[in-house]
Amino acid sequence: MANSVLYKNPILFAVVVTVVVLIGTVVTLFYPMMTAEMHPKLEGLKPYTPLELAGKDVYQQEGCIGCHTQTVRPLKAEVLRYGEYSKAGEFAYDQPFLWGSKRTGPDLARIGGKYPDAWHQMHFEDPQSFFAESNMPKYGWLKNNKLNPSDVEAHMKALGFPYKPDEITALNGKSELDALVAYMQVIGTAVKKPAAQTE
Ligand code: HEC
Repeated sequence: MANSVLYKNPILFAVVVTVVVLIGTVVTLFYPMMTAEMHPKLEGLKPYTPLELAGKDVYQQEGCIGCHTQTVRPLKAEVLRYGEYSKAGEFAYDQPFLWGSKRTGPDLARIGGKYPDAWHQMHFEDPQSFFAESNMPKYGWLKNNKLNPSDVEAHMKALGFPYKPDEITALNGKSELDALVAYMQVIGTAVKKPAAQTE
């Protein structure tokens, strides 16, 4: 019987077990990882433009993730406060994703389009002039840091995002603050806001 052969031969037993476990791993883990369904993309989701990607870099560089999340959980209170809950397909171009886990400030998953650009510029300049109790640092100095178009282009290439040469030229003279605002305005826009949010 196959059983007794395996019992008498520990090495064969180990080999058979290893092969079975490996097949199981490939079937349940690696194969699904390769299929498209495991990497959903929302319709309307676009790769970041060079300016937006530069802004996402600033977000990472400045550690905004230490105070802000970018994911709305499917709980009534969160949906009422922030808008439609986050979908898996929203983050296909977020490499790395910036969901975060700390909410000293509000969630930013639906910040895109919530305020005009000028609001963000003024808020980054001086959050305390909007909310006296805010402990958000001032980020106005980011306007003195000019973007380096060739760095941004290299990052776009590394991620394989499409762009036009004039989008790179257009970065000349833009600051990290401009990029951060452009990034704010695109976050979460692949998902329509429910009525509650626009009221
Ligand atoms: C020390 C914590 C802290 C850090 C770091 C921080 N924030 Fe904030 N943020 C807050 C708090 C608190 C608020 C709410 C009060 C306010 O608007 O100032 C806020 C509010 C905001 C808002 C307005 C949200 C809304 O829906 O009204 C935006 C946008 C924002 N932060 C973006 C950023 C970005 C981008 C960075 C990084 C450059 C950042 N924050 C860094 C604490 C922080």
